[in-house]
Amino acid sequence: MRTKIIIGNWKMNKTRQEALDTARQFETLVTGAESVEFGFCPPFVYLSELCSESNLNFGSQDVFWAASGAFTGYTSVGMLKDIGAKYAIIGHSERRGRFGKLEVPESTIGSFAETDETVNLKLKACLAGGIVPIVCCGETLAEREAGNTDSVIATQIKGALDGIAESDLTSLVIAYEPVWAIGTGKVCDSTEANRVCAMIRSCLPASIQQTTRIQYGGSVNPGNAKELFSQSDIDGGLVGGASLRAEDFAQVVMAAIC
Ligand code: PGA
Repeated sequence: MRTKIIIGNWKMNKTRQEALDTARQFETLVTGAESVEFGFCPPFVYLSELCSESNLNFGSQDVFWAASGAFTGYTSVGMLKDIGAKYAIIGHSERRGRFGKLEVPESTIGSFAETDETVNLKLKACLAGGIVPIVCCGETLAEREAGNTDSVIATQIKGALDGIAESDLTSLVIAYEPVWAIGTGKVCDSTEANRVCAMIRSCLPASIQQTTRIQYGGSVNPGNAKELFSQSDIDGGLVGGASLRAEDFAQVVMAAIC
């Protein structure tokens, strides 16, 4: 059986004190969840302190593929390892310039330039460096309405895994996040989310199909988490808004306990 994995993505939210307080409070609220894996991906600036101050698992919201060098503003896998981080989210739709709820001028979309090729490079770096990669995929509303959901996602997965030996993919986690469901309150119907997660599974190399964990993400909350996480091909969630309050995220994590 696949261990469910629930990750809170704080995105660009919280002060340092709020980050520390939320992690501390969450630790006191989440009980009896030994059968579930969970953690937070805070903003980079808080990651190091959280890793040393808390026993929880933490990860980054992005990572760069090179080991070191003249790459202003970027962070390497080795740096994440060095501070005790466990995960890295790769290819989140907001980094691909695909927003469920646009909060920046459309003219700036070009600066959110993640592609399947950069996802692939980042994935390779994580696998080589021992950081658990959480690779995001998902369709926009226009792509869904045009009937292209499965082909868009299959292309993203194929691009992400390109040239990687299946024996190197044992730690891979995938997050299916329909772009139109992210931050919008419009959760994907659980049957449809399960169907897409099963479709993603079928795109994976045979030897890792049954062991790879596939999360659902997009407006997961304490009210819908149990229904989503009880689906056969959904192995947990990537949770944005509902991970910001410790009480909410504790409920979401507890909903994953079988
Ligand atoms: P949301 O975000 O839960 O706020 O919809 C999910 C995500 O983007 O990972």
